[in-house]
Amino acid sequence: MSVAALLGAISAVGADGRRGGFSRHGFDSADMELRAWFTEEAARRGLAVETDRNGALWAWWGEPGDDAVVTGSHLDSVPGGGAYDGPLGVAAALVAVDLLRERGFTPNRPLAVTVFPEEEGGRFGLACLGSRLMTGAVGTAAALRLSDPDGVTLADALASAGLDPAHVGRDERALSRIGVFVELHVEQGRGLVDLDAPVGVAHSILAHGRWRLRFTGEGNHAGATLMADRRDPMVPAAGLVLAARRAATAIAGSRATVGRIVPVPGGTNVIPSTVDLWLDARAGDDLRTRAVVAEIEAAARELAADEGCAVTVTEESYGDAVVFDAALREELSGVLGGVPDLPTGAGHDAGILAAHVPTAMLFVRNPTGVSHAPEEFASDADCEAGARALADVLAHLAR
Ligand code: GLV
Ligand code: MN
Ligand code: MN
Repeated sequence: MSVAALLGAISAVGADGRRGGFSRHGFDSADMELRAWFTEEAARRGLAVETDRNGALWAWWGEPGDDAVVTGSHLDSVPGGGAYDGPLGVAAALVAVDLLRERGFTPNRPLAVTVFPEEEGGRFGLACLGSRLMTGAVGTAAALRLSDPDGVTLADALASAGLDPAHVGRDERALSRIGVFVELHVEQGRGLVDLDAPVGVAHSILAHGRWRLRFTGEGNHAGATLMADRRDPMVPAAGLVLAARRAATAIAGSRATVGRIVPVPGGTNVIPSTVDLWLDARAGDDLRTRAVVAEIEAAARELAADEGCAVTVTEESYGDAVVFDAALREELSGVLGGVPDLPTGAGHDAGILAAHVPTAMLFVRNPTGVSHAPEEFASDADCEAGARALADVLAHLAR
């Protein structure tokens, strides 16, 4: 079965008729359907599927065990996301197992295909939730209290999915079984297009995090409140978007994005009483990321004061920059005949795992360069090239 056929089989799951693309979020109905699909595809290949304490799926080729070669990615998406971010790595891993079998290869180390839950943080707000829980990068109690926009807590969602919230948290056993982790992913940018190469190796990930800014003013009537009498939190929120653009433009290589604003109560003829705004900020290192955020935070305080509003800033997640293991990068590039080595601005479970186990990533060319949007793309031929490259890498690692 080809990667394209596998992705085609899930092309209706979580399709978002309103936003376009896909909305598949941790443990929602689309995600549960995808998890069932993965379990079925793994079973079709004779792989034994386990669910770990934090809801990650593990499909084992042979006996589960230590020093395993592990590959995989995620099946959830951002709201209105593309078809490839996550699912490509899972589908390519399944096809890589098929290819290895066709080649008559038998692994000399345990080999597993994994699916990490809620990588995008699209439902509970914390990116790489599954790998952060497994590695202890997020505390159990704080994670279980996270809630989705409908007020459903992670604890509730896990219980609805048949998982026991009491077992959630750092999973030493699961982590210690990983000898090496390789995640294949669609490239989120045009590096491979410019280099005219279908596949590359990841070099590094930017430092990045998410901050929630809450501006509080006075809710009131849109017609009856004189302009001079207003304390409208939407005004500093609007200024904040521009301040984020200015701050990131001034610091080389940094990025700042406001992709979500929620005014409360959210009526056309109502001055909001509060506005929540989420900032995603990234840069090449901790120092520059913190500098961008400090600049934006200072602007937030000034903008709020100018409007007679209050502001609070809460760091919801943070991860320092990751440079993938140089020796492993070189080794895998060599296995693939010398492929490009590319940095990325996107976060990944592989980035979380890299602090604990030897970790690498393969990227597959994305001709649009777009990601986190329906235009994200990889050609069928490049998806197959990616699966072949992953098979080569797994064969090398599990030889
Ligand atoms: C996930 O893809 C992220 O970079 O936020
Ligand atoms: Mn993503
Ligand atoms: Mn991803």
